[in-house]
Order: sequence, then structure tokens, then C-alpha cells
Amino acid sequence: MTLIEEIRELQKKRNAVILAHNYQPGEVQDLADFTGDSLELARKATDIHSDVIVFCGVHFMAETAAILNPDKTVLLPAADAGCPMADMITGEQLRALKAQHPGAKVLCYVNSTAEIKAESDCCVTSANAIAVAQSFPLAQEIIFVPDRHLGAYTAEKLGRSFVLWPGFCPTHARLTEQQVRAARAAHPGAPVLVHPECPKPVRDAADAVLSTGGMCRYVLGRPEPAFIIGTETGILHRLAQENPAKTFFPLLEQAVCPNMKKITPEKVLWSLRDMQTAIAVPPDIARRARRSIEAMLAIV
Ligand code: 13P
Ligand code: SF4
Repeated sequence: MTLIEEIRELQKKRNAVILAHNYQPGEVQDLADFTGDSLELARKATDIHSDVIVFCGVHFMAETAAILNPDKTVLLPAADAGCPMADMITGEQLRALKAQHPGAKVLCYVNSTAEIKAESDCCVTSANAIAVAQSFPLAQEIIFVPDRHLGAYTAEKLGRSFVLWPGFCPTHARLTEQQVRAARAAHPGAPVLVHPECPKPVRDAADAVLSTGGMCRYVLGRPEPAFIIGTETGILHRLAQENPAKTFFPLLEQAVCPNMKKITPEKVLWSLRDMQTAIAVPPDIARRARRSIEAMLAIV
């Protein structure tokens, strides 16, 4: 039996669905039942009929799926696949920040721990941060955690000012304005799409600032034959598959998230075989975190 046949057989036996983020290695995206950005995956997680969810992504994503599915088993095939940005703020730090800003509402990027979600009023993803923030009155003070870049971008788009936490994504922090200039010179006419986790000079130099799912939709609707993609390079696999006649150039070839790449097809197989690693969230934190995720899903 091939590896894929073994995975399919175990999937049937366990009644399992495989979800994968757009940054996963191509061979993992190819074996998944559904691939998407964080918002699409969170939505999908509200509509699962299998007993087991194998989540090919990083820890906070599996945790979000577990929070939304308390009666199902959620497996993360690489237990050590974390997100350094999510770990840049602790519950204690957020509680201290809230105490300094009584009356402020807390928006948390979905790239955060369950404890941070539980301490927040509403989650956002890179796909809906502007729409979610816009639903709060202008006079409402907003604390935005943990990504200072997505927070600054959202505030800037709305002409508002947020209390920002200085978190960031180490992978997107490697992208620079100079790289944008060099890529434009090398590929004239190719639109530059970047993720809102990029620093401001990179966002300002780009043609569009989009979530990974937003990039896929943008490209489908454009006539240009080539695009420069400023985000984690895993998304190029999906873009190339959906647009075989178009060419995609990474803004930075080394923009690879080491955590996203910890999952392999072999680990998916072992995960299903051993039912490892099950992601569990303490019920009280899960209940409060779920409120923040559902508040987001109710808005957009
Ligand atoms: P999206 O796919 O939601 O744009 O998220 C990017 C990301 O960094 C996930 O870790
Ligand atoms: Fe976290 Fe950045 Fe990796 Fe996304 S790409 S999982 S934000 S470290």
C-alpha cells in the first residue's frame, strides 16, 4: 500500500477529516480534504461531521478547532508546531494591559493562545480584521494583540489608533521594501501581494495587502500572467495549482515558517495510527475563548 492509501484507510477507520493551512508543505496540502486560510479553516471547523479532525497547521489552529468542537478529537501531527507570535504575549501580560486601559475592548489575532482568546472580546484573522474592528464604535478604545503589524494596518485603514502589543511574525519580519523594489525590477508588471503581517514599509510598497485566502481570490480575478508573493512560500503551491497558466515569484525564497513545515505526510499517517497528539483546552478557558471566536464569526 502507498502512504496515501494507508492514510485514506486509517481516515476511514477513524472517521477523520484532514484540514491543512495554505502554508503547509505541498504534499500535505495535496492529501488534505480542505485547505484554506485561518478564517476559512475556522469556518470549516464549525461544520465538521467526522469524529476526528487532523489539523495540519500550527498549535493555535488546532486549538481553535478543538475549542469549536469540544466533542471531537483534534489531532496535531507535529506536537511541537507552535507559532512564535502567539507565544509573544501571556495571559498575565494581557490582564495587566487591560488593567491599564479600563473600558477598552480587546481584539486578538487568531494567532494567539486559547488563554489570550479567553481574555479577549473578539478574535480577528488577517482576512476580516478591518471588518471586525469597524463593528466597534469609533469612540471605543481598542487593544489589539499580539501582532503589531496587523494591528497597525487595521488601525491605519480605519483611521483609528489602537493600543498595540509589540508581537510579530519572525517569518514575515524578514520581508523588506528593498526586496519589493528588486522583485519589481526583475518582474516588471507583476503585481506585488503581501500579507498584513509584513512590516509597514513592505505593505506600503505593495499593490495589495491580503490574507492567504485573499491572495488566492485576487489572483483568480486578475489578467496579469505573473505575481510577486510576499508571504510564507507554502501558498505558492496552491496558487500554482489553481492558476497553471500563471507564474508566481516569492518575494523572498527563504520566507519559510519552520513550524508550518514540521508536518509531513508520514506524520499525518502516524497521527492517525497513534491518535497523537490530541489537543485539549481546559473547559473554562475553552468556553470563554469560544465566545471570542464566535463573536468574530457572527460579524464576518
Ligand atoms: P492567513 O492564512 O489567515 O492569512 O494567516 C497567516 C498566518 O500566519 C497563519 O499563521
Ligand atoms: Fe506564526 Fe508566522 Fe508561522 Fe504564521 S507564519 S504560524 S504567524 S510564525
